[in-house]
Amino acid sequence: MLKSILFALSAVALGACTSMQAGGPSYPPPLGGPNIPLSAEDQVRQMGRGVNVLGYDPIWQDPARARFHERHMGIIHDGGFQTIRINLQAFRHMDANNNLDPQWFATLDRMVNAALAAHLNVILDEHDYGVCGEDVAACRVKLGAFWMQVAAHYQNAPPAVMFELLNEPNHAMDTEWNSVLINMLATVRITNPTRNVIIGPVFWNNINNLDQLQLPDGDRHIIVTVHYYLPMEFTHQGAPWVPEMTQLGVTWGSDADRAFLKNNFDRVKAWSDAHHRPIFLGEFGAYDKGPLDSRVAYTSAVAREAEAHGFAWAYWQFDSDFVVWNMDTDSWNAPIHDALIPH
Ligand code: BGC
Repeated sequence: MLKSILFALSAVALGACTSMQAGGPSYPPPLGGPNIPLSAEDQVRQMGRGVNVLGYDPIWQDPARARFHERHMGIIHDGGFQTIRINLQAFRHMDANNNLDPQWFATLDRMVNAALAAHLNVILDEHDYGVCGEDVAACRVKLGAFWMQVAAHYQNAPPAVMFELLNEPNHAMDTEWNSVLINMLATVRITNPTRNVIIGPVFWNNINNLDQLQLPDGDRHIIVTVHYYLPMEFTHQGAPWVPEMTQLGVTWGSDADRAFLKNNFDRVKAWSDAHHRPIFLGEFGAYDKGPLDSRVAYTSAVAREAEAHGFAWAYWQFDSDFVVWNMDTDSWNAPIHDALIPH
């Protein structure tokens, strides 16, 4: 069974390689100089400040209905960011043989090229964490097919393009993740031996689960990611997808709140130093229903604390909810933007 899956995956990869040679994507000049491998540490320094984009945009279903356009890449760069994390829910764009839709690839190529042209680092984050948390067997097949195709497709992309194996492993994936990640990493390494790959711990990339994360010692092109939404009672107040968080009016900013944040990041830094793995804080933020002054205080404190600890970061998110950009007024959501990027 495993052999036949591997064979099927290799066939997919060969197909992807062939189509790539027959007119795959071409890229603007690489960010930061020649196309040579970047150490994970240098990449984290280069990543600096970032933002999550495109995860919930209609562009993937129908490019004509896009909210996010190529011009937003320049806006993001000029707004003080160095990195975007593109959230890809790609499983729904696969056919019955798990081949990715060419139109989906065309949209992604357009976005990756626009980001590189705007001098942004680009993370391709596979964001089907719901499916993967429910059905690990199905996830192994689809995630493997995804990385076989995407890694081959972008094998000639500059090092500014990074791969994130899976957003927020959770539930059923929690006990399987160390074996799944090794397989996915091996798949990526067939075509991308030195590209930096981003991998996080179980329980939704929780800082308290870093000790369970098992990474291959010999692979130094790995950046470890965590997400930070603590305390959930504050950051997710009124969020409909966490039904128990009905409370509103929860504030943030006391000395105890700030000490808790610092202590949590101290622990992440201690893990990072002990394991020689640089850290990317891939998501943080506070949902739009919280009191604005507390959201601003929190957003600014988390960003500054991450920087003080040497972590690159990406805010959740550009559009949709927790917004830092207002699509209606075509301008920054100033309080949140100013909190993230101080003048
Ligand atoms: C999910 C979003 C959610 C956010 C904060 C992300 O990983 O994709 O749907 O809004 O986390 O909870």
